[in-house]
Amino acid sequence: MKGVFVVLLVFVTVSRSFFGRASPSPCFNVASYGARGNGKTDDSEAFLKAWKDVCNATQETATLVIPKLKTFMLQPILFQGPCKPSTINIELQGSMIAPKSVNSWKWRNSDRKWVQFSNINGLVINGEGQIDGQGHPWWNSNVSNRPPVLQFHSCGNLSLNGTTHINSPKNHISIDMCNGVHISNIHIIAPMHSPNTDGIDIAGSSNVLIKNSTIETGDDCIAINSGSSLINISGIFCGPGHGISIGSLGQNGDEARVEEVHVRNCTLNGTLNGVRIKTWMGGSGYARKITFEDIVVVGVNQPVVINQHYTGIEEKSGGEAVKISDVTYSNVKGTASSVEGVILNCDAKVGCTHIVLEDIHITRDDGDKTHASCTNSHGICKHCDPIVPCLLPS
Ligand SMILES: *[C@@H]1O[C@H](CO)[C@@H](O)[C@H](O)[C@H]1NC(C)=O
Ligand SMILES: *[C@@H]1O[C@H](CO)[C@@H](O)[C@H](O)[C@H]1NC(C)=O
Ligand SMILES: *[C@@H]1O[C@H](CO)[C@@H](O)[C@H](O)[C@H]1NC(C)=O
Ligand SMILES: *[C@@H]1O[C@H](CO)[C@@H](O)[C@H](O)[C@H]1NC(C)=O
Ligand SMILES: *[C@@H]1O[C@H](CO)[C@@H](O)[C@H](O)[C@H]1NC(C)=O
Ligand SMILES: *[C@@H]1O[C@H](CO)[C@@H](O)[C@H](O)[C@H]1NC(C)=O
Ligand SMILES: *[C@@H]1O[C@H](CO)[C@@H](O)[C@H](O)[C@H]1NC(C)=O
Ligand SMILES: *[C@@H]1O[C@H](CO)[C@@H](O)[C@H](O)[C@H]1NC(C)=O
Repeated sequence: MKGVFVVLLVFVTVSRSFFGRASPSPCFNVASYGARGNGKTDDSEAFLKAWKDVCNATQETATLVIPKLKTFMLQPILFQGPCKPSTINIELQGSMIAPKSVNSWKWRNSDRKWVQFSNINGLVINGEGQIDGQGHPWWNSNVSNRPPVLQFHSCGNLSLNGTTHINSPKNHISIDMCNGVHISNIHIIAPMHSPNTDGIDIAGSSNVLIKNSTIETGDDCIAINSGSSLINISGIFCGPGHGISIGSLGQNGDEARVEEVHVRNCTLNGTLNGVRIKTWMGGSGYARKITFEDIVVVGVNQPVVINQHYTGIEEKSGGEAVKISDVTYSNVKGTASSVEGVILNCDAKVGCTHIVLEDIHITRDDGDKTHASCTNSHGICKHCDPIVPCLLPS
């Protein structure tokens, strides 16, 4: 019996190491590659050397460690895949910080991003570390092309958990052409008046889950743009900021495609908009199968908005617009800081169809009633306060 056990053990050990699965997941610490972490020295080269080893590791899983109690100053940096391990962990314990002034950024090329992860499958970023985009000098300068801080491009099975993101020159996190994204327990912070500092922007991506996170910025907390589908958002505290938005879609006559977006259990506090869909005149395509449910608004300027005329100007739209259909707002409650609780502003020719509002209860923050404006929207309104005139009561 004992002999059989030993033989079995040897067999298991040999075969597992033969297939390279039993060997422990190797750890690569940026400090071992010469990263100083003093907040001043450029640590980009050390990070890239460590990345090369992580990405080229022969094990199933490899880990990059960014140690705690240190601040790593990085120039614009690209972490490029594909990588050999099927899972790459990044333990972000310390801080990463962008160059201090606008003129001290050294661009790699015309693709102006700060930290970019491209073409990687199974990337897991975990930890209590912080990513600081040093946005102040950018907000105050009048350059037009401020860089976003963290971009994930063509990543699959991506997970981001526990991190803090502050003061991006532009949007904090951009999810671009990714499939399978799980973001949880993160905190994004930028001042209320910082320009274009969106929290999370999603474009061209599918199967994205964002949950239990707090986003306080100067622009949209989350924006969902064209080419996105199967996007679930829940447990978000947003504010200050501009709310959770789909769009803007269809700018410059673009064809938009957004569907299956579900936003649930979110609180918008002191934001400009609440839950909004905005499309430009003259665009085409669709935004459809969208639900917003269990939403609490606190002193939000415009809590419920569908705007198919996102530009104020009547331009050469040729009567086209992005089609908006199958949109449900359910259990949206709280207060507005303006009189406009609900705005459904749809196009005369294309209109918005299958719009369902149910259990809407929005008062002014002083307790007065709010008002709904509604043009060219078709659907039903069940238990709505304010009453939405162009929808059928049901
Ligand atoms: C992996 O190693 C190969 C061969 O040494 C090298 O050409 C390649 O650039 C490495 N990959 C990364 C991501 O560094
Ligand atoms: C902003 O731009 C204007 C004109 O383009 C220029 O005169 C001004 O000095 C700029 N301000 C800053 C802070 O760069
Ligand atoms: C994502 O992960 C799951 C399980 O962890 C795996 O089955 C799937 O193949 C992965 N997909 C990609 C695109 O890596
Ligand atoms: C996020 O991090 C926390 C704390 O380290 C951990 O308990 C949790 O399992 C992680 N969640 C995900 C989805 O990775
Ligand atoms: C939600 O996120 C916070 C940190 O932002 C964390 O402390 C808390 O444990 C998370 N809750 C759940 C249920 O994961
Ligand atoms: C996304 O939300 C929809 C609607 O609430 C739900 O049916 C679906 O299961 C959710 N998907 C995931 C992956 O949580
Ligand atoms: C709503 O989200 C908060 C924050 O993530 C969470 O603590 C709470 O359990 C969620 N409630 C429901 C009903 O999902
Ligand atoms: C809204 O924000 C204010 C001030 O930031 C805070 O005092 C209040 O508790 C928040 N309300 C909710 C419901 O989160």
